Amino acid sequence: MIKAVRGVRDILPTETPRWQRVEHAARSVFEAYGYREIRGPIFERTELFARGIGNETDIVKKEMYTFEDRGGDSLTLRPEATAGVLRAYIEHGFHVEPKPVRLYTMGPMFRYERPQAGRYRQFHQANVEALGETHPALDAEVIAMLMDFFGALGLADRLELHVNSIGDAGTRPVYIAKLVTYLTPHRAELCGECQARIERNPLRVLDCKTPACQPIIEKAPSILESLSPEAAEHFDSVRRYLDAMGIAHRIDPRLVRGLDYYVRTTFEVLTTELGAQNAVAGGGRYDGLIAQLGGGPDPGIGFAIGMERVVLLLGDDVRGATPVALLIPLGEPALQRLLPVARRARQAGVSLEIGHGQRRLPRELERANRIGAAWAVIAGDDELGRGEAILREMRTGEQRQVGLDTLPDELVRLSAGRSEPRYT
Ligand code: HAM
Repeated sequence: MIKAVRGVRDILPTETPRWQRVEHAARSVFEAYGYREIRGPIFERTELFARGIGNETDIVKKEMYTFEDRGGDSLTLRPEATAGVLRAYIEHGFHVEPKPVRLYTMGPMFRYERPQAGRYRQFHQANVEALGETHPALDAEVIAMLMDFFGALGLADRLELHVNSIGDAGTRPVYIAKLVTYLTPHRAELCGECQARIERNPLRVLDCKTPACQPIIEKAPSILESLSPEAAEHFDSVRRYLDAMGIAHRIDPRLVRGLDYYVRTTFEVLTTELGAQNAVAGGGRYDGLIAQLGGGPDPGIGFAIGMERVVLLLGDDVRGATPVALLIPLGEPALQRLLPVARRARQAGVSLEIGHGQRRLPRELERANRIGAAWAVIAGDDELGRGEAILREMRTGEQRQVGLDTLPDELVRLSAGRSEPRYT
């Protein structure tokens, strides 16, 4: 038997109602804030990610699915959406549109990580970017929208919003030098990974999860004390606007994120319910990235939500729509009479199933129960002779006669009376 590749998974029909609910919440909240959907390709030139995400990041160094196509080009399955959205922004000249340009996208991303609960090699993000505007009110608005998404799913109380500022690209070296000076004498006490990070990417030491590193990280100098006056003022303003909207947040000076493009505001939404995979969404500002990718000086800010993790938090109380009725013809003449009835009702939007006239009634009634049909419509030769069918309510077993001519309308009426959620 050929099985799915390690780290990827099927999203089964029992789970898709939860996915549809998450997608629906994302779309309606993002669109309320004026975001428009963009759909990009799943693979891009490898260089885009190397330049965009940063050569020293874990993603680019060891997690990309990179391959050469038959023409000899190096291509990579997107490990995240931001670089591709910005590539499209530049390529299609979005910079001439009223700013900020607000874009969202949803879909699969690919990272060669060690699979575990909540961490996969193909996973899905709902991703948002607001481009061309530096005002700190936009940072606060983007964060507000993210929290509204969790609110729409009833998850807000189970999550914590962490915010930080990692300063400007220009002044960050001052902090990094301070951090390296602090870390160097502690080198031997740090994990192997962090020892290497002191040279390559010292900021990442701050979000190492290894227990041995924690006492040293806790005493490290705070990046917030090294912010330039402009970056400090920007961060204060973001917090002021968050407070004005009543958005609870915790300042977390160790929140540095795993992608190199961030400047100033960074944020993450965390849960304590998914073990080590505690981030359900993350993002930040990335002024300068569009220029780095060959575009203009337009700044930007955005985030991505890890959809698998949100679905895990939702639990299994979300169920999909079930058919309103199972039509049970008893024999060939009844099948011929009920097929057009089923078609008319379906054309009117009624979800139903129809048997093929070969199974016996008890088995068909059992099937009606198993597929969750609220009603069974039964017609044999006797009923046909009277121009009628039997309408049976599955829950109570109560039955009544209904005219075959009026059956499609009756099914429409029964369907309208149900309040099953549909997330399409
Ligand atoms: P990120 O923090 O790398 O940011 O990913 C965002 C979210 O995607 C994470 O918080 C997590 O929920 C989910 N995620 C990441 N890797 C996996 C995985 N292997 N399995 C399951 N879920 C995962 C970004 O990707 C940035 N592009 C976000 C952004 C947009 N920043 C600005 N604009």
